[in-house]
Amino acid sequence: MKPSVILYKKLPDDLLTRLESHFNVTQLSDLSPETVKQNAEAFANAQGILGSSEKVDEALLEHAPKLRAASTVSVGYDNFDVDALTARGIALMHTPTVLTETVADTMMTLVLATARRAVEGAERVKAGEWKGSIGPDWFGIDVHHKTLGILGMGRIGLALAQRAHFGFSMPILYNARRHHKEAEERFDARYCDLDTLLAESDFVCISLPLTEETHHMIGAEQLAKMKPSAILINAGRGPVIDEKALIQALQAGTIHAAGLDVFEQEPLPVDSPLLEMPNVVALPHIGSATHETRYNMAACAVDNLIAALTGDVKENCVNPQVLK
Ligand code: DGY
Repeated sequence: MKPSVILYKKLPDDLLTRLESHFNVTQLSDLSPETVKQNAEAFANAQGILGSSEKVDEALLEHAPKLRAASTVSVGYDNFDVDALTARGIALMHTPTVLTETVADTMMTLVLATARRAVEGAERVKAGEWKGSIGPDWFGIDVHHKTLGILGMGRIGLALAQRAHFGFSMPILYNARRHHKEAEERFDARYCDLDTLLAESDFVCISLPLTEETHHMIGAEQLAKMKPSAILINAGRGPVIDEKALIQALQAGTIHAAGLDVFEQEPLPVDSPLLEMPNVVALPHIGSATHETRYNMAACAVDNLIAALTGDVKENCVNPQVLK
């Protein structure tokens, strides 16, 4: 008998067929308590789950006593209680490599869009406001040769550094848990403490996962250390920034602008003051959202679940200690 798994995200047809060739698949729209209650038997039998953007915590795991693997279609796994999974011997699989270049492209998009006021300018053109040669009230600021500060030098930080160094001749500062030899040798990146990075960067780019350590890492105190001309970019996780403090800093002119792909609450509430600010570019968490990359992430998540349930994990496991 094939193992039973729960799929809580739509997959392209060919990937669904691949998943079904290995497992008995129950497809659900979400993992809400109501859905779990209505599908109690499926959860009771499930050896694997695959999906994204839903909380997987102790309360859910209690309904799935046979679970051996959880596969998320994302690099970030802050929706999962990793300790609870590990305590139950459940492998958590993620997709860390396939989205790197695409998310770095999104970060560069935010850098360019905020500095050059591209969204604001396009909206003014559409509104019929472009009536002659534009003046300083439409101008942006240069990106090339400005200093780019990167918080978190993981794969995505490195891909951003590559773009900034070779494409835009930008000096690069970075802060991370440890020195990154490759970033220093290939892109001339300079390691510095957080305060120095905040004080010297023209763009402060956050490429960090959400953990207890990074939650509200950028608050009022840190924003006050940035240059008034500086731009804050976040394509990591929303709660790394204290959003209330950011709104106040933007209102007070403590910093110049912000480019945000992630927020404390997603979707961003329509009454968020951020949406009123012309110097904020707010994107709907499009970091990895291209057709190619989302397909590759889904394929990776399917392969990860197959590997985890057939005892053949070689990579992409968050808690490999459960495999021993
Ligand atoms: C991830 O994979 O964690 C990204 O946030 C999805 O875009």
